[in-house]
Amino acid sequence: MKKNHNVFGSLFSAAIVLIGVVACNASAKAEETSTVSKSRTLVVFFSRTGEQYNVGNITKGNTALVAEEIANQTGADLFEVKPKEDVYPKSYDALTDYAKKEQSKKARPEYVGKAPDLKNYDVVFIGAPVWWGDWPMIMYSFFEKNDLAGKQLAPFCTHEGSGLSAFDKKLQKACPKSKVLKGLAITGSTAQKDRQKTKESVSKWLDDLKIKKATVPEKKAVVQNAAAVKNVSNDKTDFDKENVFGQGALNTEYAKYFIGNSYLKSIVPQDCPLPVANVTFEPGCRNNWHIHHASKDGGQLLICTAGEGWYQEEGKDPVELKPGVTVYIPAEIKHWHGAKKDKWFSHIAISIPGEDVSNEWLEPVDDESYNKLP
Ligand SMILES: Cc1cc2nc3c(=O)[nH]c(=O)nc-3n(C[C@H](O)[C@H](O)[C@H](O)COP(=O)(O)O)c2cc1C
Repeated sequence: MKKNHNVFGSLFSAAIVLIGVVACNASAKAEETSTVSKSRTLVVFFSRTGEQYNVGNITKGNTALVAEEIANQTGADLFEVKPKEDVYPKSYDALTDYAKKEQSKKARPEYVGKAPDLKNYDVVFIGAPVWWGDWPMIMYSFFEKNDLAGKQLAPFCTHEGSGLSAFDKKLQKACPKSKVLKGLAITGSTAQKDRQKTKESVSKWLDDLKIKKATVPEKKAVVQNAAAVKNVSNDKTDFDKENVFGQGALNTEYAKYFIGNSYLKSIVPQDCPLPVANVTFEPGCRNNWHIHHASKDGGQLLICTAGEGWYQEEGKDPVELKPGVTVYIPAEIKHWHGAKKDKWFSHIAISIPGEDVSNEWLEPVDDESYNKLP
């Protein structure tokens, strides 16, 4: 156990007892509502990569993920407060020591670049990780260097137990001429590991603040060539003939995200930058509900090769899959796919390249709903 984890452990638990792990500090005197209709919004944030508490080595900071989610939902611009010199250590212990010293000196570290012209914004979301119960000192540099008078400021933080840590009150003190709104606190591990929950917390917070969300066109999967299907035989020997890319080996690596047995056959050389596999599902086999995440592009393309199966996205009717049908599944759509209960099924699966891509595996497709399918 690392020394600072112990320090935080007791500090965090004390904080939990005192204030609870809640989405905002209920005792905060900050204003609870605002009405924003036409104004443009900005998200200002500070966040670190490297080794972080509870999440290991991360390549995108916890607060950065929340900041991007706010920007996605509101259409706000983003400004990252980045230190002029990257003095912050990548190891967690060293970073906590460094930050403690900065805090006791009331340091005002410089940041790179200039914030966008604040005249263009009425609402500014401001977020950072909680560092020793406070805003990181570099954020005070931002508060002091920029004229935030008259703006509505919506504070948010990621933390590992201390909650909002009075970010709202401290922000109000640093920016007395601004109107500080109710804050949002999300644990860093939630931001890093559970995008769905982060999305929901941000959405609820924006609703509470009555902040208008951007109208993002609904993403939906596109199923093509559905008319080009032929009758598919039930017989495994016929299926094997039709399954020209081959069944391949039992899929043990992802077995925990499937009900029943599935098989994987890579159909490109190992050094091909775009991995492509033929996935075969035994009758009744299907994968769990899942989401392909990406901040840009990403998603998956299914090209049905043999047998018969199903594709379903949340809240929609299942779509029948047969050879020749293709399904383009954009990122962020909750869905599952697999065989029919009495048919073998194969599709080629291609993960579409994108930015910050990851897979989130969710609950299995329950027997009751699956067995109702023809
Ligand atoms: C220097 C430092 C001090 C921290 N102090 C606290 C704290 O007082 N309370 C808390 O709940 N979490 C604390 N944490 C945990 C971070 O707030 C949390 O891991 C956060 O999500 C990191 O976000 P980031 O990846 O955006 O930098 C601290 C982490 C560091 C590195």
